[in-house]
Amino acid sequence: MNILILHGPNLKLLGEREPEVYGYATLLEINNRLYELAKESDSSVRIFQSNHEGILIDYIHELRKWADACIINPGAFTHYSYALRDAIAAFNKPTVEVHLSDLSKRESFRQHSVLEGLPNVSRIMGKGAEGYYEALSVLCSQ
Ligand code: DQA
Repeated sequence: MNILILHGPNLKLLGEREPEVYGYATLLEINNRLYELAKESDSSVRIFQSNHEGILIDYIHELRKWADACIINPGAFTHYSYALRDAIAAFNKPTVEVHLSDLSKRESFRQHSVLEGLPNVSRIMGKGAEGYYEALSVLCSQ
């Protein structure tokens, strides 16, 4: 299984960015664990972070044939990027939307995700870094 893993804006600052909300794990630590877990399940992962909507969409386009599935934390793009929604809809393979925090308990603008309603998308939120590992395990067991 080939899995594309995308981290959206500001996630590069994990560990130092509002740790009480997003946790103390750095993006490097999370990514290293994802590489390890993927190896254990004989899967390949390609992991990218970008603060730019178009660059994330370019990655999805470039890797859409290689990837069998996707894990994405779109950061704040979750709440307003219809372009990202269209890219995930076009990708049309199993996708897990991961959020470190529990959006249902946060500001009202965070309670809507543009990925809602896409048939290929499921969501894990509020489990911190564990959410990414759970997403990988769900996809690898499909
Ligand atoms: C986030 C939640 C978003 O609202 C926020 O903009 C983020 C991170 C999360 O992982 O909880 O950057 O996606």
